Amino acid sequence: MEASKLQRYLQVVLQTALDTAGETISSNGYKIIVKIDKAIGEGYIDWIPILPTSYPIDKNLNDRLWSVLVGVLYPFYTLFPGGPNFVPTGSDDFCSARALRFHFKIGIYSRMHISDMNTFYIYKGSLPLMDGYEYDFEHASGHIAISGSSGSGKSIFAEFLLNQFWLMGAEIVMIDPKLDHNLWRFARTRNLEYHYPKVGSNPNAFGADVLDILSRAVTLIGERQATVLNSEEYQKFSPYIVFVDEAAAFSTKQSRDLMEKIVLMGRACKVWLIISAQSMDATSVISSTARDSMGLRVVLSPNPSIEDCRYLFKGFNPADVVIPRDEYRFGLGLIEQMSDGRIVPFLAPFIENLE
Ligand SMILES: Nc1ncnc2c1ncn2[C@@H]1O[C@H](COP(=O)(O)OP(=O)(O)OP(=O)(O)O)[C@@H](O)[C@H]1O
Ligand SMILES: [Mg+2]
Repeated sequence: MEASKLQRYLQVVLQTALDTAGETISSNGYKIIVKIDKAIGEGYIDWIPILPTSYPIDKNLNDRLWSVLVGVLYPFYTLFPGGPNFVPTGSDDFCSARALRFHFKIGIYSRMHISDMNTFYIYKGSLPLMDGYEYDFEHASGHIAISGSSGSGKSIFAEFLLNQFWLMGAEIVMIDPKLDHNLWRFARTRNLEYHYPKVGSNPNAFGADVLDILSRAVTLIGERQATVLNSEEYQKFSPYIVFVDEAAAFSTKQSRDLMEKIVLMGRACKVWLIISAQSMDATSVISSTARDSMGLRVVLSPNPSIEDCRYLFKGFNPADVVIPRDEYRFGLGLIEQMSDGRIVPFLAPFIENLE
């Protein structure tokens, strides 16, 4: 659809859908402008109030516009969530100098179907996660947090990510308190270091194992940092990844401190933490400082609530986000990467040949 056509359509729709105290485009109450940049697949809608208006220009107007736009743009465009966003229109006229701007992407996100999990998708430091969405881990960081209730698809999504990094040459150490069958087979077929609590052994032994793995990663960070300081040349490290599934199962103050260190210091020298948990709260899983430094954050839930988003997307209200549906309930939710800071609908890649 051309921008001009969308603009005309929105003019009609918003006029009937919004209560603007009787003001309309023809009465010069506001203007609507649409711009689309096909090259980047994005665009924006500007709502320009013409002052003085008899309707208040406030957060409420922004929220109502947002709610209406989300619905009327679907399924041709996806609105990017974000707070009220005033931009200058560039006009010298005081009455029309500002606009409320809503950014969108052309089309909706859709699920990738992966017939062979071992196909390598990474290209120039980016990993495609949906049709139309790439995780730019080279510029963000490789630290990833995945939360979601049981069966939401955390472990399988993590397995996909780990496999892509492994194909890229990453060294991976896995901590799996639940001894997940898929993860165990994944580790075994690739000969990865894999830790789980052994039946009948002292429960503290597993806790000690975990601390040892995390400490080793912190030591490696120190070594890599020293290499950088002592070398004239640019250092290119291959990623070293510690993966922790169901992190709440063994968490202690010591393990949380070590994980925080890895997240805060590991980014530059490619020592990464990938962590999954039902909830990412600071008291039992990971500190809020570490949480905020993750390169990728994923909440898996087909109907995310404010509570689901509370830790990874603080203050975000998912009520108005449309998550496109397909026949699968797993791997649905919301995603945000550090490099663009946008929380958008997510459908995890569907793996057809699960190992
Ligand atoms: N991306 C996917 N592609 C194909 N199948 C999937 C995918 N995600 C989940 N599944 C299916 O759903 C099941 C549950 O997913 P998964 O084990 O990842 O959930 P979880 O969130 O880790 O839950 P749990 O609390 O049980 O560990 C998998 O065994 C698999 O059959
Ligand atoms: Mg799991």
